Amino acid sequence: MRRPLIAGNWKMHGSRATVHALMSALRDGVSGFDALDVLVLPPAVYIPDVVRLADGTGIATGAQNVGDQEQGACTGEIAADMLVDVGCTHALVGHSERRALYHETDALVAARFAAARRHGITPVLCVGETLEQRERGETEAVVGAQIDAVAEQAGKEALAAGVVAYEPVWAIGTGVTATPEQAQAVHAFIRARLAEHSGHATDVRVLYGGSVKPRSAGELFAMADIDGALVGGASLKADDFLGIIARADEARSA
Ligand code: PGA
Repeated sequence: MRRPLIAGNWKMHGSRATVHALMSALRDGVSGFDALDVLVLPPAVYIPDVVRLADGTGIATGAQNVGDQEQGACTGEIAADMLVDVGCTHALVGHSERRALYHETDALVAARFAAARRHGITPVLCVGETLEQRERGETEAVVGAQIDAVAEQAGKEALAAGVVAYEPVWAIGTGVTATPEQAQAVHAFIRARLAEHSGHATDVRVLYGGSVKPRSAGELFAMADIDGALVGGASLKADDFLGIIARADEARSA
């Protein structure tokens, strides 16, 4: 049985004051949820604060991206061993905003994934299709290629040590959530593709992301291959994020 993982991607939001307020609400709210994992992904400058505020709560801290190179002349990048140094355990790679706004290719995303694994960071590989790609029937081709690039470049052992987040681009920040059936179909495809690359596919957690809210979370978590959520907007509100965590806990014990 895969342990649910609920991850909050704070994106480029917040300030020191809001980070402290959110973390103090989460500290109180997560106690008692011992059968699932909670991860928060703050803007990089707040990572040390969040690691300190999360101490003793079981909340893990991750980065929203990770450098593809070791230390060196890569202005603006943050190396995986630096993330380890400040207490990060996870990093997103290939979020669709990175792919679309900053032109990150499947190959660059795979290099970031490999760099994270070299330093023991758990990469959360984000995959997903645009609305145009879905309408053209290309969802599986796009998502499959995003996974294959990591398997080929980082290796199947590295892939099996990561987490995958299926985030249809058309559902991110739009208020339109994929239906549980739409999400489950792609999650099942992802799990099968992971199994082709590695025998450990059943252990890899596959999260759903895209406008997850407390009211939509329960029916998503009831699906066989949905192991949690990568939450954007709703992770900035403690009550909403804790509500999603509670839905995951209910689904686990159902
Ligand atoms: P959203 O973002 O929940 O605001 O749609 C999800 C994400 O981008 O990870």
